[in-house]
This record gives sequence, structure tokens and C-alpha cells, in this order.
Amino acid sequence: MVGIAVVGAGAWGKNHIRVFSEIPGVHLKYICDSDPSRLTKLQKFYPHTKMVENLSPVLQDPEIKGVVIASSAISHFPLAKESLLASKDVLVEKPMALNVKDSEEMVKLAEGEGRILMVGHLLIYHPVVDRLKEMIASEELGRIHYIYTQRVNLGIIRQDENALWSFAPHDLSVILELLNERPVVVSAHGESYIQKNIEDVVFLSLHFSDGKMANIHLSWLDPHKVRKITIVGAKKMVVFDDMEASEKLKIYDKGVGSLSYDSYGEYLSLRFGDITIPNIKMTEPLRTEAEHFIRCVESREKPKTGGRDGLEVVKILVSAQQSLREKGAPVDL
Ligand SMILES: NC(=O)c1ccc[n+]([C@@H]2O[C@H](COP(=O)([O-])OP(=O)(O)OC[C@H]3O[C@@H](n4cnc5c(N)ncnc54)[C@H](O)[C@@H]3O)[C@@H](O)[C@H]2O)c1
Repeated sequence: MVGIAVVGAGAWGKNHIRVFSEIPGVHLKYICDSDPSRLTKLQKFYPHTKMVENLSPVLQDPEIKGVVIASSAISHFPLAKESLLASKDVLVEKPMALNVKDSEEMVKLAEGEGRILMVGHLLIYHPVVDRLKEMIASEELGRIHYIYTQRVNLGIIRQDENALWSFAPHDLSVILELLNERPVVVSAHGESYIQKNIEDVVFLSLHFSDGKMANIHLSWLDPHKVRKITIVGAKKMVVFDDMEASEKLKIYDKGVGSLSYDSYGEYLSLRFGDITIPNIKMTEPLRTEAEHFIRCVESREKPKTGGRDGLEVVKILVSAQQSLREKGAPVDL
């Protein structure tokens, strides 16, 4: 049995609690939340799990191998640090911390102590992202020109992070994974309409050294609920629409053919081929993520979304935040 504690029993933490409680071979021994009212509500659903208001009993318990941190972003660093220092493996929600210094310290600590440090970049565990990776690796899409993503809705309006820090880790982790490359310049525009200095809507642009480009639109102040990633390649284009119940991936055999020259000038041939919807077996990404964490804890294998991946995302967020403050000025990474 792998003893696990989940810290943070809020809107998202409840999903971790459900998933870890269902995995065979896992003992969800503790739920920790500083707000006792959250614990009271959960006790009747998890009668065999101890409800605690601080981490001390968790860290002193030798049966606890892994601590899952799904508390508010500002508490990720102190809770992860304490857990790593107590020789626990850690799965921490995104963003792993709110600055580069704390993220680097977490990575160093984990590596120094030989602990697993995994970051909850959920979409990396999505079966459609696996398929996109395969398609890019096999060059089915051809050279990638650009990517744009939309992650907008009328949703939870946070006070301790803006729309950039709350949503962009999803898109950034996928873009970094798919392109296997870091951007060299970022710029971001955004505005705070609801709360002072907390941007509700952000348009983030990433530029890569070879001319590839990505644009990310983030908002919790939008009439539509959209979770979409569009990738335009030289051979094909794809759209991953996570709001679709089953047809989440569409592959467009569309593009621009080679130039033809004749005495009257140059012609571009446009190709309007078939649209394919592959049948992808859906699995719950959070369940896959949680099972991966347990496997890493047991086998000491390196997580697919480790601390260094989390650090790369935080570096981009910090530069994007600087650009936001400077009204969209490009910031070198
Ligand atoms: N991976 C994803 O898809 C995804 C989705 C939603 C949220 N999240 C992340 O999960 C985290 C939690 O989000 P949420 O929507 O559940 O927030 P929430 O505000 O609903 O819940 C946070 C909980 O953490 C508790 N908490 C705060 N500080 C604590 C501390 N020091 N010790 C113990 N408990 C503490 C709060 O009392 C609260 O119950 C955030 O970092 C968010 O970005 C990830």
C-alpha cells in the first residue's frame, strides 16, 4: 500500500481526493485543509481517512510516501518544501510556485534528497495530447508553423493569481511538450476589469528561434467556454477541442501546395483535403496523472512532468508577467 495525503480540499483538490481514493494499492490516509469546514463536509464520504488542519501529522507519519498539494498557488512552495524536507515524494499542482527562485529551490531540494517532484500539468496526461505528440514526431503534420490556444469561460475568479498564472500552465506545458523547444521571446497584453491588478484576460505570444509562433488567449471573463488548441503544420492542420464530448481531435488535410511558376507569374495551389476524426480511447487525465505519480513513487522513475518542466513553465510565466506590466513589450527568455 502506498500511503498518500492530499493537501487542499477545494474545488480541484476534491478531484485528487476522489481519484487517489479509487486507485488500487493506494491508501488515502489523510486529507489536509486549513479550513475545517471543508474537512467536515468530506468526512462522511471518506470515513477511513484522517482529516487534519495542518501538515505536521502527515509529515511525521512514516506510512505516508506521497503528498499531493492542491492548495492555493501561494502555498505550493512552503508546503512542497516542508514535504520534501520530511522525505516525502510530492505531486504539486500548477503553477508549482509563484517565482523562479522558489521553483528552483524545489527542484534542487528534490534532486538533492532523491525525492520525486511531479507537477500537475494535467494535459500532458490527456490521450489527445499523446496522439498530437505522435503526429508531430512522425511528421504527419509537416513542419509546425504556428499554434494558437483558447482557454476562456466565465469561471472561478481568483484573488491570489491572475488568468495568466491560473490557466497558461496548461497551454504552456502542452506547447513545450509538443514542440520540444523553448520560446526565445514572449509578450503579453492583458487587462484587469474586475479586481485591481489581477488580469482577467490575457493574450500571450511566444516566439521561437526558428520562426514558429504560439498565441494563447486566457480569460475567466468570457461568454464562451472554450478549451481549444489549433496547430497549423506545413502538411496538415489539427484542432483539439476539449469541449467536444467524443470528437475531440479533427485532422484537416489542408494546406498550401508548392509554388508553380509560369510566364504569367507565380501560383500557389491550395489543398482542401479530407477532415479525419480519429477514434481515440478516452481516459480521465487526472486518473492517468495520479497513477503515474504512484508508479514514480514505487519505481523511482522520473515523472513525465517533473520539477524541471514546472520550472520552465514558471520562467515563461514570470517573463510574461513582466511583459504584461510593460504593456506587451517583448521580453527575452
Ligand atoms: N490541474 C488542473 O487542471 C487544475 C484545475 C483547477 C485548479 N488547479 C490548481 O489547484 C489548486 C487549487 O485550486 P482550487 O480551485 O481547488 O482552489 P480552492 O480555493 O477551491 O481550494 C484551495 C484549498 O486549499 C486550502 N488551503 C490553502 N492554503 C492551505 C494550507 N497552507 N494548508 C492546507 N490547506 C490550504 C484552502 O482552505 C482551500 O480549501 C490551484 O493551484 C489551482 O491552480 C489545477
